[in-house]
Parts: sequence; C-alpha cells; structure tokens
Amino acid sequence: MAGGGLAPSNGEVKHYNGRVTSFVIVTCVIAATGGLIFGYDIGVSGGVTSMDEFLEKFFPSVLQQENKASGKNQWCQFDSQMLTSFTSSLYVAGLISTYFASMVTQAFGRKSSMLFGGAAFLLGSAINGVAMNVAMLIIGRILLGVGVGFANQAVPLYLSEMAPPQLRGALNMGFQMATTIGIFVAGLVNYGTGKLHAGYGWRISVALAAVPALIMTLGAVALPDTPNSLVERGLRDQAKATLRKIRGTDDVEAELQDMIEASEEAKKVSDPWSSILRPEHRPHLVMAIAIPMFQQLTGINVIMFYAPVLFKTIGFGDSASLMSAVISGLVNVFATTVSIATVDKFGRRVLFLEGGIQMVVSQVAVGAILGTFFGDAGTGKLSPALANLVLALICVYVAAFAWSWGPLGWLVPSEIFPLNIRSAGQSIVVGVNFLFTFIIAQLFLMALCHLKSGLFYLFAAFVVVMTLFVVFLVPETKGVPIEEMTLVWKKHWFWKKYILDDHITPSEHQRED
Ligand code: BGC
Repeated sequence: MAGGGLAPSNGEVKHYNGRVTSFVIVTCVIAATGGLIFGYDIGVSGGVTSMDEFLEKFFPSVLQQENKASGKNQWCQFDSQMLTSFTSSLYVAGLISTYFASMVTQAFGRKSSMLFGGAAFLLGSAINGVAMNVAMLIIGRILLGVGVGFANQAVPLYLSEMAPPQLRGALNMGFQMATTIGIFVAGLVNYGTGKLHAGYGWRISVALAAVPALIMTLGAVALPDTPNSLVERGLRDQAKATLRKIRGTDDVEAELQDMIEASEEAKKVSDPWSSILRPEHRPHLVMAIAIPMFQQLTGINVIMFYAPVLFKTIGFGDSASLMSAVISGLVNVFATTVSIATVDKFGRRVLFLEGGIQMVVSQVAVGAILGTFFGDAGTGKLSPALANLVLALICVYVAAFAWSWGPLGWLVPSEIFPLNIRSAGQSIVVGVNFLFTFIIAQLFLMALCHLKSGLFYLFAAFVVVMTLFVVFLVPETKGVPIEEMTLVWKKHWFWKKYILDDHITPSEHQRED
C-alpha cells in the first residue's frame, strides 16, 4: 500500500499544499459507514439470540432448556453450539475473505472492495430477514461475514489514504467510533423490536443491517478511489485529478510525487510475507499478532455479543436485559470520544495501562459478586440492587476498554509497520482479530456453563498478562513519524537486539545523531 501523506523519507513530517475540503470530509464520513455495519452486526446478534420468538423458530431446544432452567442451573441455559455458531460463523467467513479482500483492494482499488463488501452485506441482511430455517440463517451470516471482511480491510485503508496527514489519527479512530455507534444503534433496535412480541421482531433487527450496507454500497459507487491506489494501478492522471479535488488546490505535485516514490519503493519488495518473517521485523510481527489477540482476550465481545443473555442469566427480565445492552452501548460510544481527545496528548501507554487496571478491578468485582450471591450451582438470585451494581461495574469495564484496547487495538498496529510490510501486516492484524473474535464467540456460552463466575477471573488474568506486556514490551508511539518508527525499536531495551544499524535509514541516522 502506498502511504499518501505519510512522512516522506527524509524523516520530516512534510505539510503538503491544500486544505481540509468538505469533499474529503463527506467522502470519509460515507466510507466510515463500513464501521457502522461492523458494529451493527456485533450488537444485533446478542439481542436476537435472547428473544424467545427467535429461539422458538430456530433453536427450540435452547428455549426448552431456558424454560426448564428456571430455579435450576442458570449458567448453562444458553449453552448451545448451534446458537453460538449463529454468532461466530460470521467471523470465520470474515477471516477467510479478508485475505481475498487484500488482493482485490490492491489490484482493483479500495472502492471495489467497499462496493463488493457492501453488496455482500446487503444480500446477507436480506436473506437473514426472510430466513425460514437455520441453513438460511447461517448462509446470511456468512455473506455478512464476507461483507465485514472486505469492509474492514478496505475502509481503514481508504480513510487513512484520503485523510490529510494532520487528520489521520482522528479519522482512524473515526472508524472505531462508527463501530461503537453501530453497536449502540443495534442495541436500541433490539430493545424496540424485543417489545413487539409479534413473532417477527428479530426479522426487523437483522434486516435493518441493510440500511448502513446500502449507504456504503451506493456511497462506494459515488466515491472516488484514493489517489494512492490510482497511482499504484498506473492511473496517474486520475490520481492527480482526485488529489486536486480532495485537497482543494491545483498545486499537488509534491504530494503526488511522494506517492509515486512510495509506490515504487513498495513494489521493490517482491514478497512482503517473507519479509515480515525476517528478524528485523520480529517486533512488528509480535505486535501484529499480540495486540489484536489481547484486544479480544479482554473479553469485550462477551459483553458486546451476549450482554442481554448475560443479564437474563443473572435475573433481569427480557426488557431490562435488552435495556442493559443499550446502556453499556452508550457508555462505549462516549468513552471512545475520551480516547480520541487524549490519545495524542497523554500517549498510548497511559491509556493502555489505566484501562487495563480499571478492567481488572471491575472484572474481579463482577466475578466476586456472582460467585458469592449466584453461586456455582447457578441457583441463587441476585437482589435488584446487586443486579444493578453488576450492570454498573460492567459499564466501568466497557468504558475502560473503549478508551484503551478498543481504539488502540487498531491504531497502534496500523502505525508501526514500515511501508513495505504495511499491507501484509494489516492483513495479519485483521485476521488475528477475527480469529479470536470467533473463538470467544464460539466458546463463551460453553465456558460460562463450565467456569461460571470463574470466567470473569479468567478474563481478568488475561488483562493482567496484557498489561504487563504493555509495561515491558510496547513502546510509546505518540507523535513519532511513521517512517521513523524503527528508531523506537532500536532504543527499546528488549527489541533493540533485532534492529541492526543497517536497518536504520539515512534520515533516521540523522535524527538519531
Ligand atoms: C473490536 C470489536 C469490539 C468493539 C467494541 C472493536 O475495537 O475489534 O471486537 O466489539 O471494539 O466496541
């Protein structure tokens, strides 16, 4: 991928001509609807799987189990591999299609991938909306997965290439912001349709995913492709015309020239996949795997997917359970803005560390309350006050995630790769993220049944490990020009052994001196 507007190779952050045009803002807002479809989908599945009418139609045995469970072991009432495959099938499809998306994105442009992703998503939501059996439901989910796989690969790239350099960080987090808005809207929709009791509420919930998908599909038809992608595909005149339009000036020669150079440089690396395995890229590879893996091991998607199910388990009524998802969804949106406002001031590490500690405290507290009052037999009952306290603690946890591992889990990997392995590195990040999302989605209800309140301690233990990982192994990247990131590793107590002097570019040498 060519890095438009990145710091050029002389190590200085160059300010290109032009201004922030309304054209580029509108373009980016439309593209960010890719985050909305990702988020809507995360939020919608937990709500529908807690609706009796949905269970009755597709998973009657789960409903029987649920009804029988009153007064018995509540921990296991939703344990069904079929039910979890409804949620997790999407991520397997997403995982596989992201690899193909990276090829389409490179060869045919970011716009083509967005168009394809939007159309697949649209079709998937239509099939889900009219689903008559489990097979249709799963086929719909797979198509949604293909949609998300393509969208998550292409949209962040599109945003960072379109954005003027001074807005790139904020726009990168804009994708996460759109994701949290999607989750929140899905919670609201589920709350509304859950009250219908007409047998088809869930259909409205799943079919409404077509709205953001339609915006992205039509948007992708109208959007221009990024100048970087046009340059990469040899369409220099078109690249120049687009650049003029998005920067609002005719004088775009310097930026265009840098794009051409960056693209030529990137083409020299015949195989980024073997390059990423070389010792000098060890820190990058470790981060590309560890950061998305840890993001998922915080357990966030237990809350995002299954909050209504979880709240039903601890004794909330149907409506209160769906409401709880709306509340935690709102906290998620607001806390993300905290991160956007502070990440370039306080840095990444402070947010990671504060968020980590806050998550451990709330997880341990939830585990202790459930363990004490609900008991491992799962036959206890939480008083309304205690159930509300659990909801409050879960909000404290969601807020911590939303200003730490949520946005940083995408931002930090995206800013550490050198240009030649950036595209391959980003594919690894998306793939690992979806793989662990799948694992959590598939195993959670079973793990809840077996580990009971101990599950919260398990996630707390993972957060302790990842917080120590940040303390010792994640360097601060705030304010470091992307093309000078190698120096950060070179100065790091552990990673420096992988970076030899000849891995440092002349411009980095200059800065080091
Ligand atoms: C994660 C998702 C998660 C969402 C919650 C994203 O950064 O990748 O898995 O559901 O945050 O807001």
